[in-house]
Amino acid sequence: MKIFIDTANLAEIREAHSWGVIDGVTTNPSLIAKEGRDFIATIHEIAELVNGPVSAEVVAQDAPTMIKEGLLLAKVHKNIVVKIPLTYEGIKACSALSGEGVRTNVTLCFQASQALLAAKAGATYISPFIGRLDDLGVDGVTLIRSIVTIFRNDTDLKTNVLAASIRDPLHVVQVAEAGAHVATIPFKVMKQMFLHPMTDRGNEQFLKDWATVADRDIIGQTTRFLEARK
Ligand code: G3P
Repeated sequence: MKIFIDTANLAEIREAHSWGVIDGVTTNPSLIAKEGRDFIATIHEIAELVNGPVSAEVVAQDAPTMIKEGLLLAKVHKNIVVKIPLTYEGIKACSALSGEGVRTNVTLCFQASQALLAAKAGATYISPFIGRLDDLGVDGVTLIRSIVTIFRNDTDLKTNVLAASIRDPLHVVQVAEAGAHVATIPFKVMKQMFLHPMTDRGNEQFLKDWATVADRDIIGQTTRFLEARK
Protein backbone atom coordinates (compact mmCIF):
# COMPACT_ATOMS: atom_id res chain seq x y z
CA MET A 1 0.00 0.00 0.00
CA LYS A 2 1.28 3.44 -0.87
CA ILE A 3 1.44 6.19 1.73
CA PHE A 4 0.39 9.74 0.91
CA ILE A 5 0.50 12.61 3.38
CA ASP A 6 -2.76 14.53 3.84
CA THR A 7 -1.62 18.11 4.36
CA ALA A 8 -0.70 21.34 2.55
CA ASN A 9 1.87 22.27 5.19
CA LEU A 10 5.33 22.44 3.60
CA ALA A 11 7.20 21.87 6.87
CA GLU A 12 5.21 18.69 7.56
CA ILE A 13 5.72 17.44 4.00
CA ARG A 14 9.46 18.18 4.17
CA GLU A 15 9.81 16.31 7.47
CA ALA A 16 7.79 13.27 6.33
CA HIS A 17 9.64 13.27 3.01
CA SER A 18 12.96 13.11 4.89
CA TRP A 19 11.82 9.78 6.41
CA GLY A 20 11.73 8.35 2.87
CA VAL A 21 8.25 6.86 3.26
CA ILE A 22 6.06 9.29 1.31
CA ASP A 23 4.69 8.27 -2.10
CA GLY A 24 2.47 11.32 -2.67
CA VAL A 25 0.45 14.16 -1.15
CA THR A 26 -3.26 15.01 -0.96
CA THR A 27 -4.63 18.47 -0.28
CA ASN A 28 -8.16 19.83 -0.16
CA PRO A 29 -9.58 23.38 0.02
CA SER A 30 -9.75 23.26 3.84
CA LEU A 31 -6.09 22.20 4.14
CA ILE A 32 -5.02 24.90 1.67
CA ALA A 33 -7.05 27.58 3.53
CA LYS A 34 -5.39 26.55 6.82
CA GLU A 35 -1.96 27.47 5.43
CA GLY A 36 -3.03 31.00 4.38
CA ARG A 37 -0.81 30.89 1.30
CA ASP A 38 -1.38 31.15 -2.45
CA PHE A 39 -2.95 27.91 -3.75
CA ILE A 40 -0.99 27.47 -6.96
CA ALA A 41 2.37 28.48 -5.49
CA THR A 42 1.77 26.01 -2.64
CA ILE A 43 0.86 23.02 -4.79
CA HIS A 44 3.71 23.76 -7.18
CA GLU A 45 6.17 23.82 -4.27
CA ILE A 46 4.76 20.53 -2.95
CA ALA A 47 4.92 18.92 -6.40
CA GLU A 48 8.58 19.96 -6.75
CA LEU A 49 9.39 18.47 -3.35
CA VAL A 50 7.66 15.09 -3.62
CA ASN A 51 8.26 12.83 -6.58
CA GLY A 52 4.75 11.40 -6.67
CA PRO A 53 1.09 12.32 -7.16
CA VAL A 54 -0.06 15.58 -5.56
CA SER A 55 -3.84 16.07 -5.41
CA ALA A 56 -5.11 19.61 -6.01
CA GLU A 57 -8.87 20.14 -5.82
CA VAL A 58 -11.15 22.06 -8.16
CA VAL A 59 -13.70 24.32 -6.47
CA ALA A 60 -16.14 25.00 -9.32
CA GLN A 61 -19.46 23.19 -9.02
CA ASP A 62 -20.38 22.93 -12.72
CA ALA A 63 -18.68 20.48 -15.05
CA PRO A 64 -17.45 22.93 -17.73
CA THR A 65 -15.68 25.12 -15.15
CA MET A 66 -14.40 22.08 -13.25
CA ILE A 67 -12.89 20.82 -16.51
CA LYS A 68 -11.33 24.23 -17.19
CA GLU A 69 -9.86 24.39 -13.66
CA GLY A 70 -8.71 20.77 -13.89
CA LEU A 71 -6.93 21.22 -17.22
CA LEU A 72 -5.12 24.30 -15.86
CA LEU A 73 -4.18 22.63 -12.56
CA ALA A 74 -2.75 19.66 -14.47
CA LYS A 75 -0.46 22.07 -16.34
CA VAL A 76 1.04 23.47 -13.13
CA HIS A 77 3.24 20.37 -12.63
CA LYS A 78 3.47 16.83 -14.01
CA ASN A 79 2.80 15.43 -10.51
CA ILE A 80 -0.59 17.11 -10.15
CA VAL A 81 -3.68 14.91 -9.86
CA VAL A 82 -6.97 16.81 -10.19
CA LYS A 83 -9.27 16.25 -7.23
CA ILE A 84 -12.99 16.43 -7.95
CA PRO A 85 -15.99 16.12 -5.61
CA LEU A 86 -18.34 13.21 -6.13
CA THR A 87 -21.35 15.05 -7.55
CA TYR A 88 -23.27 14.72 -10.83
CA GLU A 89 -21.13 17.50 -12.28
CA GLY A 90 -17.96 16.10 -10.72
CA ILE A 91 -18.44 12.70 -12.36
CA LYS A 92 -19.11 14.43 -15.68
CA ALA A 93 -15.89 16.42 -15.28
CA CYS A 94 -14.00 13.27 -14.23
CA SER A 95 -15.07 11.47 -17.44
CA ALA A 96 -13.99 14.43 -19.57
CA LEU A 97 -10.65 14.94 -17.79
CA SER A 98 -9.88 11.20 -17.90
CA GLY A 99 -10.58 11.32 -21.62
CA GLU A 100 -7.98 14.09 -21.90
CA GLY A 101 -5.44 11.92 -20.07
CA VAL A 102 -5.59 13.97 -16.86
CA ARG A 103 -5.23 11.94 -13.66
CA THR A 104 -8.10 12.43 -11.23
CA ASN A 105 -8.91 11.79 -7.58
CA VAL A 106 -12.66 11.67 -6.94
CA THR A 107 -13.23 12.78 -3.37
CA LEU A 108 -15.97 12.85 -0.71
CA CYS A 109 -16.95 9.22 -1.26
CA PHE A 110 -19.18 7.78 1.47
CA GLN A 111 -20.77 4.75 -0.20
CA ALA A 112 -19.63 1.99 -2.57
CA SER A 113 -22.09 2.95 -5.34
CA GLN A 114 -20.30 6.31 -5.60
CA ALA A 115 -16.94 4.54 -5.97
CA LEU A 116 -18.33 2.39 -8.78
CA LEU A 117 -19.47 5.51 -10.66
CA ALA A 118 -16.09 7.19 -10.21
CA ALA A 119 -14.35 4.07 -11.54
CA LYS A 120 -16.68 3.93 -14.55
CA ALA A 121 -15.82 7.60 -15.18
CA GLY A 122 -12.13 6.66 -15.34
CA ALA A 123 -10.98 8.11 -12.03
CA THR A 124 -7.36 7.34 -11.17
CA TYR A 125 -8.21 7.38 -7.44
CA ILE A 126 -11.40 7.22 -5.40
CA SER A 127 -11.21 8.70 -1.89
CA PRO A 128 -13.60 7.12 0.65
CA PHE A 129 -13.62 9.17 3.89
CA ILE A 130 -13.45 6.54 6.59
CA GLY A 131 -13.01 8.75 9.68
CA ARG A 132 -16.02 10.91 8.84
CA LEU A 133 -18.10 7.72 8.44
CA ASP A 134 -16.89 6.44 11.82
CA ASP A 135 -18.02 9.78 13.29
CA LEU A 136 -21.55 8.92 12.08
CA GLY A 137 -21.40 5.49 13.71
CA VAL A 138 -20.82 3.74 10.35
CA ASP A 139 -17.73 1.53 9.99
CA GLY A 140 -15.48 3.26 7.44
CA VAL A 141 -13.13 0.28 7.00
CA THR A 142 -16.10 -1.86 5.85
CA LEU A 143 -16.59 0.62 3.00
CA ILE A 144 -12.95 0.18 1.93
CA ARG A 145 -13.39 -3.62 1.98
CA SER A 146 -16.54 -3.35 -0.11
CA ILE A 147 -14.99 -1.07 -2.76
CA VAL A 148 -11.87 -3.25 -3.01
CA THR A 149 -14.11 -6.30 -3.57
CA ILE A 150 -16.12 -4.52 -6.28
CA PHE A 151 -12.97 -3.43 -8.11
CA ARG A 152 -11.44 -6.93 -7.84
CA ASN A 153 -14.63 -8.42 -9.31
CA ASP A 154 -14.30 -6.29 -12.45
CA THR A 155 -10.78 -6.16 -13.81
CA ASP A 156 -11.86 -3.45 -16.29
CA LEU A 157 -11.98 -1.04 -13.35
CA LYS A 158 -8.49 0.40 -12.93
CA THR A 159 -9.24 2.94 -10.18
CA ASN A 160 -7.06 2.93 -7.05
CA VAL A 161 -8.75 2.93 -3.65
CA LEU A 162 -7.28 5.82 -1.67
CA ALA A 163 -8.42 5.58 1.96
CA ALA A 164 -8.88 9.13 3.29
CA SER A 165 -9.97 10.78 6.53
CA ILE A 166 -7.62 8.51 8.48
CA ARG A 167 -7.72 9.21 12.20
CA ASP A 168 -5.20 6.84 13.83
CA PRO A 169 -2.54 4.17 13.15
CA LEU A 170 -5.14 1.40 13.54
CA HIS A 171 -7.07 2.86 10.58
CA VAL A 172 -3.86 2.63 8.51
CA VAL A 173 -3.37 -1.04 9.38
CA GLN A 174 -7.05 -1.85 8.79
CA VAL A 175 -7.20 -0.23 5.34
CA ALA A 176 -3.92 -1.94 4.35
CA GLU A 177 -5.42 -5.28 5.40
CA ALA A 178 -8.61 -4.44 3.50
CA GLY A 179 -6.59 -4.03 0.28
CA ALA A 180 -6.57 -0.23 -0.16
CA HIS A 181 -3.98 0.83 -2.74
CA VAL A 182 -3.18 4.06 -0.88
CA ALA A 183 -3.81 5.61 2.52
CA THR A 184 -3.54 9.36 2.85
CA ILE A 185 -2.44 10.09 6.37
CA PRO A 186 -2.30 13.33 8.41
CA PHE A 187 1.18 14.23 9.73
CA LYS A 188 0.04 13.75 13.35
CA VAL A 189 -1.07 10.16 12.63
CA MET A 190 2.17 9.48 10.72
CA LYS A 191 4.17 10.41 13.80
CA GLN A 192 1.91 8.21 15.96
CA MET A 193 2.70 5.27 13.62
CA PHE A 194 6.31 5.31 14.89
CA LEU A 195 5.45 5.03 18.54
CA HIS A 196 5.32 2.10 20.94
CA PRO A 197 6.32 2.27 24.62
CA MET A 198 8.12 -1.08 24.28
CA THR A 199 10.34 0.39 21.57
CA ASP A 200 11.34 3.25 23.90
CA ARG A 201 11.82 0.91 26.84
CA GLY A 202 13.91 -1.51 24.76
CA ASN A 203 16.02 1.30 23.36
CA GLU A 204 16.68 2.71 26.84
CA GLN A 205 17.79 -0.72 28.09
CA PHE A 206 20.11 -1.22 25.10
CA LEU A 207 21.75 2.15 25.78
CA LYS A 208 22.07 1.40 29.50
CA ASP A 209 23.81 -1.92 28.77
CA TRP A 210 25.95 -0.36 26.03
CA ALA A 211 27.26 2.18 28.54
CA THR A 212 29.07 -0.71 30.33
CA VAL A 213 31.06 -1.61 27.17
CA ALA A 214 34.67 -0.39 27.40
CA ASP A 215 35.21 0.93 23.86
CA ARG A 216 31.99 2.43 22.56
CA ASP A 217 33.46 4.23 19.53
CA ILE A 218 31.82 2.21 16.71
CA ILE A 219 33.07 4.47 13.93
CA GLY A 220 36.68 4.49 15.20
CA GLN A 221 36.72 0.75 15.89
CA THR A 222 35.18 -0.12 12.50
CA THR A 223 37.50 2.20 10.59
CA ARG A 224 40.58 0.66 12.26
CA PHE A 225 39.21 -2.85 11.67
CA LEU A 226 38.56 -2.23 7.97
CA GLU A 227 41.92 -0.50 7.44
CA ALA A 228 43.77 -3.39 9.08
CA ARG A 229 42.14 -5.79 6.60
CA LYS A 230 43.24 -3.83 3.50
O1 G3P B 1 -8.25 15.09 2.34
C1 G3P B 1 -9.44 14.43 2.54
C2 G3P B 1 -9.62 13.79 3.89
O2 G3P B 1 -8.50 13.01 4.19
C3 G3P B 1 -10.04 14.73 4.98
O3 G3P B 1 -9.97 14.15 6.25
O4 G3P B 1 -9.83 14.47 8.69
O5 G3P B 1 -10.94 16.23 7.27
O6 G3P B 1 -12.05 14.01 7.66
P1 G3P B 1 -10.74 14.76 7.54
